[in-house]
Amino acid sequence: MKTLEEIHKIRKEKREELDLRVNTKADVREKHILVCHGTGCTSSKSPEILENFRKILKEKNIENVRVIKTGCFGLCAKGPIVIIRPEDTFYANVTPEDCKEIIESHIVEGKIVERLLCKDIDGTKVKSLDELNFYKKQKRIALKNCGVINPEDIDEYIAFDGYKALEKVLKEMSRR
Ligand code: FES
Repeated sequence: MKTLEEIHKIRKEKREELDLRVNTKADVREKHILVCHGTGCTSSKSPEILENFRKILKEKNIENVRVIKTGCFGLCAKGPIVIIRPEDTFYANVTPEDCKEIIESHIVEGKIVERLLCKDIDGTKVKSLDELNFYKKQKRIALKNCGVINPEDIDEYIAFDGYKALEKVLKEMSRR
């Protein structure tokens, strides 16, 4: 990547491709299974969960489903956390053994696995992260893309406005 045009191209193409991560009404051509790989979830076997999802999808010949590594969602006590987009279903305390049921029920049959939904402090089950009291009063600024993008994929960073400040410096600011 050497020019601003290249960055613009990546941003546009990749953002369209990743629209379903932030737009629950996205034109659904595929699903993304986001598996938290922050420290807490990693220590509770999230790498094994990610591998299990990939293995089961391959064995069952299921296409149009991507399994993505994400950073910490900020709710480590509920980990390992798995989110399925675009519908934004939030599964908590997932184990490697749960992957088969999530694939067969949620992905294949379109039925939420109720027993894995996250419980709020009052014990009610919530279907998405935004419904949780812990998040309702928060507005994430610096970490707003954490849990949405794969932190190891630079194109995903660019798609979600990465390097915009550098672009401004190069295009709009003088040397003095
Ligand atoms: S490490 Fe997964 S939510 Fe924090």
